[in-house]
Amino acid sequence: MNRPLEGKIIVITGATGRLGTAFCNAVLEAGANLVATDLDKPATQQKLRALHDAFGQDRVLPLAVDTTNKESLDSCAEAAVARFGRVDALVNNAYPRNANYGRRFEEVTYEDLVENVGLHAGGYFLACQRFLELFKRQGHGNIVNMSSIYGVIAPRFGIYAGTEMTMPVEYAVIKAGVVHLTKYIASYHRGHGMRIRCNAISPGGIRDGQPQEFLDRYNASATSKGMLDPKDINGALIFLLSDASEYVNGQNIVVDDGWTL
Ligand SMILES: NC(=O)c1ccc[n+]([C@@H]2O[C@H](COP(=O)([O-])OP(=O)(O)OC[C@H]3O[C@@H](n4cnc5c(N)ncnc54)[C@H](O)[C@@H]3O)[C@@H](O)[C@H]2O)c1
Repeated sequence: MNRPLEGKIIVITGATGRLGTAFCNAVLEAGANLVATDLDKPATQQKLRALHDAFGQDRVLPLAVDTTNKESLDSCAEAAVARFGRVDALVNNAYPRNANYGRRFEEVTYEDLVENVGLHAGGYFLACQRFLELFKRQGHGNIVNMSSIYGVIAPRFGIYAGTEMTMPVEYAVIKAGVVHLTKYIASYHRGHGMRIRCNAISPGGIRDGQPQEFLDRYNASATSKGMLDPKDINGALIFLLSDASEYVNGQNIVVDDGWTL
């Protein structure tokens, strides 16, 4: 079996969500040891324990981590090093949002926009900053930030017509910011004599019970499958976490079945 991440130590945030669940299984199957983290809620912690039971405690460290909290991130890095000796990579995959997230443009308040950008883009910044402290001490480290096609292109609002759905303005601001945060971090560590890199993945839409009329309109712009499944993003993640991408730095890989063409 091909195990391109054999022996690597990887931290994943938002590990029990739709993509996080697929990512955890994929990196473990690819041979990595995993620090699987998510919020301190009974349901998320139960899922993390199930992963721990399935793959064994020598390979999985489940932790409660809030990516908007500096102490929580620092404790995570410390616990990861205490268990595995180092961290090779951080996958910034959490999706924090407040209760008002996702309203139509006209209904988004200044306060909600600022809070959601702070929680999500701010949380990605904070996780990068805290783990880079460790990566600088180690002399190496790899970050993968989850962005989105909506951090790359403008929304096509016509696909939402007649549904309750929209593409939130907060999301556009956050995900475009995440792409550029990624480039900033890659460039900032240029010439420091360390093997530190930072890349992003921008998935297209993930199938999740959306209305058929929306799916039909969305899928018409894709080149084969249309809306993707979480596992369809695994290949890009494994590539960026593996040594096959050793000299890929500051890039954003769009995985969208050609939707943004
Ligand atoms: N699902 C999609 O269609 C899609 C498409 C493109 C990009 N993405 C991106 O992929 C990433 C994962 O998306 P998803 O669909 O799996 O989301 P999800 O909502 O299914 O899961 C997100 C996870 O993040 C956790 N989380 C929320 N706030 C947190 C915090 N403060 N600290 C730590 N964890 C926190 C949640 O508990 C949850 O388990 C996000 O960055 C999202 O923007 C998703």
